[in-house]
Amino acid sequence: MNKTIIVSNRLPLQISIENEELEVTPSVGGLATGLKSVHKDGNGIWIGWSGITQEELDPRLEAEVNEAITKEQCVSVNLTESDLDLYYYGFSNRTLWPLFHYFIEYTEYNTESWEAYKRVNQKFANKVLEYAEDGDKIWIQDYQLLLVPALVKKNKPDISIGFFNHIPFPSYEIFRTFPKRKELLRGMLGADLIGFHTYDYERHFLSSVKRILSLDVNFNKVTYENRIIKVDSFPMGIDYKKFKQAALDHDKMNEDEKSEIQKRLDQHLQKEDGVKMILSIDRMDYTKGIPNRIKAFEYFLNKYPEFHEKIRLIMLAVPSRSQVPQYQKLKQETDELVGRINGKYSTVSWTPIWYFYRTLPFKNLIDLYTSSDIALITPVRDGMNLVAKEYVATRTRKDGVLILSEMTGASKELNEALLINPFNFEEIADSIKQALEMPVPEQKQRMIALQKRVSRYSVKKWANEFMNSLHQVDKAYHIIQAKKIKKKDLEVFKTRMSSNKQKILFLDYDGTLVNFTNNPLDAKPDQELFSILNKLNAKKNTKLVIISGRDKKTLNKWFGHTPYILVSDHGVSMRLESENWKTMERLKTDWMEDVLPVLETFVDRTPGTLVEKKKFSLAWHYRNTDVELAEKRLVEIKTVLTSFISNTDLTLLEGNKVIEIKSSKVNKGRACSNLVSLFPSDHIFVFGDDWTDEFMFEELPERALSVKVGVQKTKANYYVKSVEQVRELLKAMIE
Ligand code: ADP
Ligand code: G6P
Repeated sequence: MNKTIIVSNRLPLQISIENEELEVTPSVGGLATGLKSVHKDGNGIWIGWSGITQEELDPRLEAEVNEAITKEQCVSVNLTESDLDLYYYGFSNRTLWPLFHYFIEYTEYNTESWEAYKRVNQKFANKVLEYAEDGDKIWIQDYQLLLVPALVKKNKPDISIGFFNHIPFPSYEIFRTFPKRKELLRGMLGADLIGFHTYDYERHFLSSVKRILSLDVNFNKVTYENRIIKVDSFPMGIDYKKFKQAALDHDKMNEDEKSEIQKRLDQHLQKEDGVKMILSIDRMDYTKGIPNRIKAFEYFLNKYPEFHEKIRLIMLAVPSRSQVPQYQKLKQETDELVGRINGKYSTVSWTPIWYFYRTLPFKNLIDLYTSSDIALITPVRDGMNLVAKEYVATRTRKDGVLILSEMTGASKELNEALLINPFNFEEIADSIKQALEMPVPEQKQRMIALQKRVSRYSVKKWANEFMNSLHQVDKAYHIIQAKKIKKKDLEVFKTRMSSNKQKILFLDYDGTLVNFTNNPLDAKPDQELFSILNKLNAKKNTKLVIISGRDKKTLNKWFGHTPYILVSDHGVSMRLESENWKTMERLKTDWMEDVLPVLETFVDRTPGTLVEKKKFSLAWHYRNTDVELAEKRLVEIKTVLTSFISNTDLTLLEGNKVIEIKSSKVNKGRACSNLVSLFPSDHIFVFGDDWTDEFMFEELPERALSVKVGVQKTKANYYVKSVEQVRELLKAMIE
């Protein structure tokens, strides 16, 4: 049976050794808590780090550790202390984490930790390869493993790989600053499906892919190394039922079943009428906006003294990555701020902030969620934030108010919360007041809407949608109808080419016989190409046609001395072997006077683009401009030109980074058909890479062997991946 392999840096369980005894605790953080409930229902395995280093692992406890891991359907990747130091504390948490959360000033880069990151990502990939079988699905998680998708793909190209990024993907302007930006993107693009929590992260990623790797992006699909990679957003949810049920059970608890924490919470709440509690829970992380929150709370106490003694902020900060200096600094800053405010405002019977710096068991989390009237969640950046959703799920009486930072992924879904800008103390303070005074009917109205959304889009649904989408991508890849050329197909190409019958070959030029260059005039034919073409042309009863969108002048310059048949301007003119050029269609050109100025205004507004004036057509080239600007302009130019060409016999042709306006009487398909009637052939071969070549694939008789360069939808029968492969195939046909 096929299985799903989840791969993440941390396993859902963490092993530690205390007094020579094994301790197993659940991992904190959104990734582990969210995926745990998905994993436990499946038949798959989870590959990750167990929490102890190889050096810490006492050989006497090894069997016990393995048993604990295997029991949870997990497989551990062994990390050494140095791995942990350089890959986890180093590259993952001192480089990628701050970079992706817009803390450029915290982003450190050094080659030693980069090398370790590569090495450890390879370790994870090796472990995946050890367990992956054909038909399995691999689901790789988060920023610690950005290179793993490509490392797995390289060794198992047919296995289906998903990647999910649990943290934000920063805007291009941030991401571009990073020295290894290309390597990271290429690593991620090893996946077949790449998921983010929100559309904004998806958009930023696609923008970086387009600008940094210059890849083609069509809506949310990236074409890379002849694979189509889908990028989409899947906002992660929580195990709603688990939290709701825990809260319902909590409501029914007797006094003697209550935890110590719950008893203290009750004491505060029962003090007098109108006493309220504000809750915040996060890992102690500088992205969570903890100092901002405390300062805003101070601002609130200052501005609204009538709430003194009536409210309390309960702050649970879970220790995290405490070996990284910024985290130590944050801890110190938080301690000082809490101390200062408590010192300033406390009375004999009241401390404004209760601050816990520790991990609490699930039961106590529920105590906190259910006892708090307000959840105050103020990250300055957060990929999603599940705590906000967990608070919503535990509100069994449908009251309570969620104050949520608009910098969290969750804010995109939780519109009925009071959304705040975490940098605006005034706004936070006023929202706290609004929440404290919000009438219960309004609280309920908002909470019901929030619960509806959070319960519907649970973590299970999230995982299912991701997996279904991965399955679809898989299928879509196979329904591109063109086939890869296998050994037996190659034999057909060879046999037909070596037969004595009449043969004709139609070869597009740019993108088929030569690669694109930034300056079109640099794409000259080279010696190897001439050698291949001459040998093909020398075959008995063979006609070789170079059919291109290029103009007569260029084709003449490059191929004038050869005996090949040349077709220029997508079929406007033709030169038969040693004859002169002939224009195949009588075409008018008076329309150019009107269209040229229009195109020129686009060139003026779009640096890097240019207009090419051909004898019978005009082309706007946009290969050398900013990709996103070009996309916008393309929409505009198409709108303008489409209205211009209505009721004329002109048409727009979209090529590779070029849009051309010309007579609809002309296309490569018609030119090919004319040549086939002129030279009736038993065997026809046709090669092309872009949209304009589809006319040839469509119009030539079915017996033609048609080859598309690149994996895209096409009418051709076969595809190859590159110009280099076209040349290999042509060479094989000469043999
Ligand atoms: P992040 O992933 O950045 O840590 P999230 O808010 O998305 O932030 O996820 C935090 C997760 O960790 C939540 O599922 C929350 O319930 C859990 N969690 C927070 N505090 C504790 C704690 N003290 N003990 C156990 N789990 C906790
Ligand atoms: C965030 C990250 C996770 C990580 C978690 C806890 O949620 O997205 O990948 O596991 O924080 O951090 P830690 O470094 O302790 O694993």
